[in-house]
Amino acid sequence: MELNFNVSVADVTKGKGGLLVVFADDGLKMIERRCVCRPMAEKALADAKDSKVVEYVYAAHKDLKYEYVVAMPLRLEAFQSADDQIRTAAAKAMDFARKRNLGKVSFLLETKKALEALDKVVEGVAIGAYLYTEYKDQSFALKEMAVELLVAKDQAATARKLVAQRETVCKAVNASRDIINRPGSDLTPEGIAAHAKKLANKYKMQFTLLKDADLVKGGFVGVHAVGVGSVNPPVMFAMYYQGGRGSTPDIALVGKGISFDTGGIDLKPFDHMWEMKTDMAGAGAVIHVMQAVAELGLKKNVLAIIPSAENRPDAKAYLPGDVLRYKNGVTVEVHSTDAEGRLVLADGLIWAQEKFKATRILDVATLTGACVRALGAQFTGLMCNDPALAKKLTDCGAKRGEKFWPLPLPVEYEEMLLSSVAKVKNIGGALAGASTAGLFLQRFIGEGVSWAHLDIAGTASYEGRQRYYLQPGATGVMVRTLTEFIAGL
Ligand code: BES
Ligand code: ZN
Ligand code: ZN
Repeated sequence: MELNFNVSVADVTKGKGGLLVVFADDGLKMIERRCVCRPMAEKALADAKDSKVVEYVYAAHKDLKYEYVVAMPLRLEAFQSADDQIRTAAAKAMDFARKRNLGKVSFLLETKKALEALDKVVEGVAIGAYLYTEYKDQSFALKEMAVELLVAKDQAATARKLVAQRETVCKAVNASRDIINRPGSDLTPEGIAAHAKKLANKYKMQFTLLKDADLVKGGFVGVHAVGVGSVNPPVMFAMYYQGGRGSTPDIALVGKGISFDTGGIDLKPFDHMWEMKTDMAGAGAVIHVMQAVAELGLKKNVLAIIPSAENRPDAKAYLPGDVLRYKNGVTVEVHSTDAEGRLVLADGLIWAQEKFKATRILDVATLTGACVRALGAQFTGLMCNDPALAKKLTDCGAKRGEKFWPLPLPVEYEEMLLSSVAKVKNIGGALAGASTAGLFLQRFIGEGVSWAHLDIAGTASYEGRQRYYLQPGATGVMVRTLTEFIAGL
């Protein structure tokens, strides 16, 4: 759906047509004392206090020329953070308008307190309006919607800037969801590279592509081994946005780009295998963080590296028991071809440090089922060798509605990775699987390099019904948080 955002100066008595939305927060601080909508807001709040089923209160208001006016109570879904309640309420208001074929939604954000909700409203609207429509017929595609944000006169200029910025980031979030949702056969490693290259060209980023032969020549044994069983060859590529000073990156982002993860020779069971089309969600996030960073014109040097392969069994596929000798001297015995993410990320980490001299690195990956079991679908696992970096990421995530939970990188568990044949093996055993994956990656981080590993296996996508302001499928998680983080560097 095409959304047209527009900031206007609030005067509800002059507005007309479409839906007017007011938020009824505790204490009604988001609505002016003298506003004609205040009685409705009071009612919405009272109803929500009595019963948990009230989503909104609406009426045709006799003094107003909007078709509908709704008051959204913000205490309804008490199982959400205050910010997420705003995002969800905004998304629900959009649903309300869409179901009634209204072409315009106006949000009344006149008070100081309401203005604080502005960025959350834009997120709820823009992210909430997303649907993956590539394979739906045209009648399913939604039309345009005007989204008006009504603010106090002296706040209009600030609000305009904020809205434009949020809109840009949300567009990047939704673009990442589009490629993450795409079926495995439609998006090969080379397809991911072509998609990224188009963005790189558009924003004048440097783009370096290593094709399969280059991977062999360059000694990138992990990406090559994981991809060698597929007819769709593996690649590794770098996007480099130079908005800052200096010749080295301020930050390097490494995204897992497994276009499809069958498990390889250690084939996965059939029941949920189809979900592994989202095993490139780390890459999808990282590529579109680059889009947001460039579109916002941030004055930073940002490097993105995507090691990408299709993990698929074949006569030529790599085997359990194979040993890979990485460029940094680490040898790895493959104990499961299904623990392929860490094998490709290792090459990405090496390339970021060796070629691009990165000293601050974040990797983003749908890495372990163990992380999903430990933290569920709403927390990204955060493993980090630098407490200050961990705190910054956690704060940015909290601000943008993407939650982290720390997981340890315990020296005590290092021995779980030991191999009798090589330096390490690529799995640690049944216990603490998210942490042993993190410890594996840490082996590829050099002295003095600040690094965080973000395991998004649980948060990158989900199935079932709408959750809060997100439709099922890819969530685009980490685009908002990492853009926020880079802006604050
Ligand atoms: N892509 C999977 C991890 C995954 C699981 C992502 C569930 C999203 C949802 C990864 O490549 C994998 O298969 N990991 C194995 C590792 C094991 C063999 C040590 C896992 O978690 O089972
Ligand atoms: Zn796997
Ligand atoms: Zn995987």
